[in-house]
Amino acid sequence: MENFTFQNPTKLIFGKGQLESLQEELVHYGENILVVYGGGSIKRNGLYDEVMEHLHKLNKNVFELSGVEPNPRLTTVRKGVEICKRENIDFILAVGGGSVIDCTKSIAAGAKYDGDVWELITKKEIPKDAALIGTVLTLAATGSEMNSGAVITNWETNEKYGWGHPLLFPKFSILDPVYTFTVPKNHTVYGIVDMMTHVLEQYFHKTTNTPLQERMAESVLLTVMEAAPKLLNDLENYELRETVLYSGTIALNGFLQMGLRGDWASHNIEHAVSAVYDIPHAGGLAILYPNWMKHALDENPAKFKQLAVRVFNVEEAGKSDREVALEGIEKLSAFWSSLGAPNRLADYDIDESKLDVIADRAMARGEFGNFKTLNRDNVIKILKMSL
Ligand code: NZQ
Ligand code: ZN
Repeated sequence: MENFTFQNPTKLIFGKGQLESLQEELVHYGENILVVYGGGSIKRNGLYDEVMEHLHKLNKNVFELSGVEPNPRLTTVRKGVEICKRENIDFILAVGGGSVIDCTKSIAAGAKYDGDVWELITKKEIPKDAALIGTVLTLAATGSEMNSGAVITNWETNEKYGWGHPLLFPKFSILDPVYTFTVPKNHTVYGIVDMMTHVLEQYFHKTTNTPLQERMAESVLLTVMEAAPKLLNDLENYELRETVLYSGTIALNGFLQMGLRGDWASHNIEHAVSAVYDIPHAGGLAILYPNWMKHALDENPAKFKQLAVRVFNVEEAGKSDREVALEGIEKLSAFWSSLGAPNRLADYDIDESKLDVIADRAMARGEFGNFKTLNRDNVIKILKMSL
């Protein structure tokens, strides 16, 4: 293992009826609250009314920023920053999925920064302060509810970057599986693919002696894979929603990466694809990740074999490590396809015409990948395998 220090300050408030804690939590913070949400799902499922009722009982001055896009945009972050500065916002409450939370984190940093928030997102500057935030999560996927990262798209320049800072951990996050009942089938699938990919990104690394991290990662994968098909046939099943919601948080709240550095190259390529084509993040991952695996396989075939045997039950007798590993990769891809996830860029009408632009975007911060370093040619190769 590598030496590490672990600290995750987010208070996780999980379970049915836990929205009741909102008043108790918010009582500690200021008077002017900005509520950030997306395109209307929280109005349709009643969560908006419930949140507002709690805020009004506390006599807070409530401001709103609605319409946060999936793949949240810099323009919306800037709108939020402006509201915060104009109205002296003390606390920002995100009510939604990863996009709403990421937008909120970026607003929080921009609110306490004199320059343009894009300088923080592109890591030209480091935030020294940030407004405080809390979240009510409505979609199991990103883990943003319990980490300090955010991903923002500048649609004018077709750039989409992940960034983060410890100041951006939510003070609290409320996760009630009931509010995820209304997530449609396609976004439920994307969420499942996203959390599984987060686990896999952290499974492939160069650090030695990480047996517990590996078995924890494998258990998250096995748990999600057992629940996913059942959930897709029963979208309002509390226990299955509960399992998947908890898994999504565990997959990216730092627990699985203690003492190691995950690869994350596929995420970088996917962000470049969705910066140019605005496709759902995990739709892109379902296509790219198995092809990244095939590309990276020779870096450590035994590790891929371990995954194939322990998680995908591939029979190993009489086969080389490579053969077992490849069978495992096929099983992963087939599992995602069986859920209804896409497996080719053509499924999003993406052809060869802009692969160069995507590769340039992916290379914006230089070569990347902690398990296998990728250069521009490698990125083009993986994209071509994915067409
Ligand atoms: O906008 P509304 O109307 O709320 O609808 C959303 C949106 O259309 C809908 N939705 C959310 N909760 C719902 C619901 N519909 C019905 N009922 C509910 N309870 O679902 C759609 C997708 O929402 P979004 O927030 O975009 O999904 P997700 O949580 O998957 O977030 C994706 C974004 O997170 C970034 C991605 O790149 C992408 O921009 N990521 C953030 C990470 C992080 N901060 O740690 C890590 C990830 O790897 C990822 O890159
Ligand atoms: Zn992701």
